[in-house]
Amino acid sequence: MKYLELQNGMKVSQLAFGCMRISDMSVTDFTELVKEALKEGVNFFDHADIYGGGKSEKLFGEVLKQNPELRKEMIIQSKCGIRRGEHVGYFDFSKEHIINSVNQSIERMNCEYLDVLVLHRPDTLADPKEIAEAFDELEASGKVKAFGVSNMNPMQMELLQKACKQKLMFNQLQLSPVHSLMMTQGLFTNMKESQSIDHDGSILDYCRLHDVTIQPWSIMQASWEEGTFLNNLDYQKLNDTLDMYAKKYDVSKSAVVIAWFLRHPANFQPIFGTTSVNHLREMCAGCNVELSREEWYHIYIDAIGHALP
Ligand SMILES: NC(=O)c1ccc[n+]([C@@H]2O[C@H](COP(=O)([O-])OP(=O)(O)OC[C@H]3O[C@@H](n4cnc5c(N)ncnc54)[C@H](OP(=O)(O)O)[C@@H]3O)[C@@H](O)[C@H]2O)c1
Repeated sequence: MKYLELQNGMKVSQLAFGCMRISDMSVTDFTELVKEALKEGVNFFDHADIYGGGKSEKLFGEVLKQNPELRKEMIIQSKCGIRRGEHVGYFDFSKEHIINSVNQSIERMNCEYLDVLVLHRPDTLADPKEIAEAFDELEASGKVKAFGVSNMNPMQMELLQKACKQKLMFNQLQLSPVHSLMMTQGLFTNMKESQSIDHDGSILDYCRLHDVTIQPWSIMQASWEEGTFLNNLDYQKLNDTLDMYAKKYDVSKSAVVIAWFLRHPANFQPIFGTTSVNHLREMCAGCNVELSREEWYHIYIDAIGHALP
């Protein structure tokens, strides 16, 4: 496993374990998965209050209750701000909701404190001053050690950072070889093709400039609707290319995808979402593969389905 040393002294595994899909696992199976992750050197676990309607955090808490010694090996992150209302889903970065959500996450997970709290999706009704107050209270009470955001663009981060004393250390963003808009817009700068359209305010460069760690999510997914691009006939060319490098490096295709993320100098911290011990082992093997520059571009081009400018 590779590790990133962050500004606040945190040493985080470069691969993070995402807990969005674990809610229906048994305690026994999930305990095995967690222990395997720790054995592979994965020390970072990503949650959200809404995963499985709270069931994912509860399951994680059950593992910690039965194996309390594991807590000191873990960096636990959770997210808040997405709510299910009576009529619609909506976003809520009010001070009251942030603090309530953290208290409930800590209780569900039996973990005393969160190492990181991330704001899940931009709330247009958010008042940065109110968020800053929530962060101050949570930090002062020792309930949260570090803070970050998710799905935010540079201006949204600037606005929030202006109000908050705490550094926004993370931005969790959708990124995979197939969903790589933040890279594509930079590669097509000032061209007339639609690929030059800026969808995110140059979030990739912004995060690198400000030492914000990007945590790519849905790293093996084409999209929510399509599911994974691995072994997906709609992504045959990409799969053939991944297969070629999988054979060359004697690893799985998913390991080649991991190597593709880690080859980028932005120091991404990809979050994987597997429920399978085998898939977990296969992906971790990708940390030992170093792709060449040409190999990186080969995968990128076959994933997006068109040539460079
Ligand atoms: N901030 C946000 O808005 C946001 C949004 C979505 C997700 N997230 C975070 O990102 C994490 C990862 O998201 P994700 O679950 O969509 O990521 P993912 O790792 O791209 O997808 C995991 C899914 O792909 C499947 N898969 C199929 N073949 C696989 C293979 N060979 N290797 C590995 N997985 C394979 C997994 O099945 P198996 O279980 O059988 O391996 C699982 O169903 C989430 O858990 C969550 O923590 C954040």
